[in-house]
Amino acid sequence: MSELTHRFDVVIVGSGLAGLSLALSLPKSLKIAVLAKDKLTEASTYYAQGGVAAVLDKADSSALHIQDTLEAGAGLCELSAVTQCVEGGSAAVDFLLEHGVEFTRENGELHLTREGGHSARRIIHHVDATGVSISTRLTRVLKEQSHIQIFERYCAIDVVTDAKLDQGKNAHLDKPARADRSDQVRGLYALNLATDEVVTFSANFVALACGGASKSYLYTSNPDIATGDGMAMAYRAGARVANMEFNQFHPTCLFHTKARSFLLTEALRGEGAHLKLPDGTRFMPNFDARAELAPRDIVARAIDFEIKRLGVRHVWLDISHKDPEFVREHFPMLNARLGELGIDMTREPIPVVPAAHYTCGGVLVDQHSQTDIRGLFAIGETSYTGLHGANRLASNSLLECVVFGKAAAVYIAEQLGRATPSREIPDWDASQVTDPDEEVVILQNWDELRHTMWNYVGIVRSDKRLARALSRIQLLSSEIDEYYQGYRVSKNLIELRNLVCVAEMIVRCALARKESRGLHYSLDYPDLLEIPCATVLSPEDAQVSLQPT
Ligand code: FAD
Ligand code: SIN
Repeated sequence: MSELTHRFDVVIVGSGLAGLSLALSLPKSLKIAVLAKDKLTEASTYYAQGGVAAVLDKADSSALHIQDTLEAGAGLCELSAVTQCVEGGSAAVDFLLEHGVEFTRENGELHLTREGGHSARRIIHHVDATGVSISTRLTRVLKEQSHIQIFERYCAIDVVTDAKLDQGKNAHLDKPARADRSDQVRGLYALNLATDEVVTFSANFVALACGGASKSYLYTSNPDIATGDGMAMAYRAGARVANMEFNQFHPTCLFHTKARSFLLTEALRGEGAHLKLPDGTRFMPNFDARAELAPRDIVARAIDFEIKRLGVRHVWLDISHKDPEFVREHFPMLNARLGELGIDMTREPIPVVPAAHYTCGGVLVDQHSQTDIRGLFAIGETSYTGLHGANRLASNSLLECVVFGKAAAVYIAEQLGRATPSREIPDWDASQVTDPDEEVVILQNWDELRHTMWNYVGIVRSDKRLARALSRIQLLSSEIDEYYQGYRVSKNLIELRNLVCVAEMIVRCALARKESRGLHYSLDYPDLLEIPCATVLSPEDAQVSLQPT
């Protein structure tokens, strides 16, 4: 075995809640690696504000949570995945509590807040910084585990499978050969960002828990790590992805020149905040009976409509009619952060715009989180489990990370005895590449891609805009491919290659959907089709098939 190869039983790419849930649920007898391309806590999980949805109140029920999820999902949720998640809710909360995660309590009981689309109070939270509480606590627990080795600032490049090994040297550069369970994952290549060396991780179980792809858009609530790496790696290895057109735009991100990617939690509206036009009038009641608490797709589209109708740059979110003490107590992090920017949320409205927030589609997995490839798992925002359908219900994402992370752990533990012997993976071959001479190519393509996605594949779409986007993306893709084959890999290049791959998936799925449903709104097809179908993209021929849900 080469000295550049690390051998493990399970390799987990990602230290957000999905990766952490899997790592901390696997048997302690296993040798486990957890990779993160930045520091451990730099993940969407850390920035989560609202909380985790789970049925905990006596007045609430699983049937209601299932109904709310199905309704938000606009006919495209898989009932089995919804049931698995909702019924796994209380065990997921126990998992978090048992690992010492703190949540806000009132009179000793977990405090439940409310968000759009939920018919009951069912969101546990840690004031308005739930992700900080989850991420700091669980990464601390992770570091205490002697059977888990942490590889911080290692950027996974590509997954290695039997099919790729059979194709020969540098096969990871080729188009995928097939996508079925006769293929077995064998490990992955990753760039050590401290040494610039590419190392090999060998394992018969690999989990991609890399988060979402919202960085493919110009404006996003997500941290920089959200470049769709897991989706792109699985797809290049031959696994199918589904429903990639459903990118959720969060209705309320701060509009401010000095604050990038800053979210204003939906719990603000849950606790009574109003959306207002520049003249101070509320507009959501004109769009939906649930007003500010309508599902996100409806609220984001209404804001987009009003911004375009009035030719303004933002609308206002106003909670100043509530008792200032209540606001400070429930939203201390937002109050402090906005205060630094000169906005007093207890006295004045906050300027807001929608921004790309969550990738509802992803790598197609079964109830154990396994992809089309044996031993290759996708968990959390990277995956498509069928839970979110055409629009994710607020705070269902963190729940999904835990439920499906635990499901993967149970399945891997069951499969251990049946695992095939490991296979040697050749060292990364960099003999044909040179040092990059023009980093500006990466920057230029990155900007162009994200502008294209924002302008042509945003909240409101049309065939013409999508076709324009596809032709530009294909051009960028071939340019980036050529660059990738000729020059030494870097983190920026790996991410750009993944972003362009995911952008193409989003556009191909969007073009195949000839209707308006949930988060996908097309000017050319404003109506719903009778039979709800998922869009499934096969990497073999880049063709989208419509599969009834
Ligand atoms: P992440 O938490 O994003 O973690 C991804 C991990 O993968 C990171 O560790 C990253 O370093 C690693 N990674 C990625 N690519 C590579 C690579 N190539 N090599 C190595 N490592 C890699 N959802 C809710 O349910 N409730 C909320 O209140 C909520 N609030 C949110 C607020 C904000 C501002 C945002 C951005 C999202 C929010 N969401 C919320 C969504 C939710 O936070 C995410 O969907 C969820 O945290 C995703 O978890 P994850 O583990 O799948 O991915
Ligand atoms: C929020 O707090 O508004 C985000 C919740 C989510 O994305 O689920």
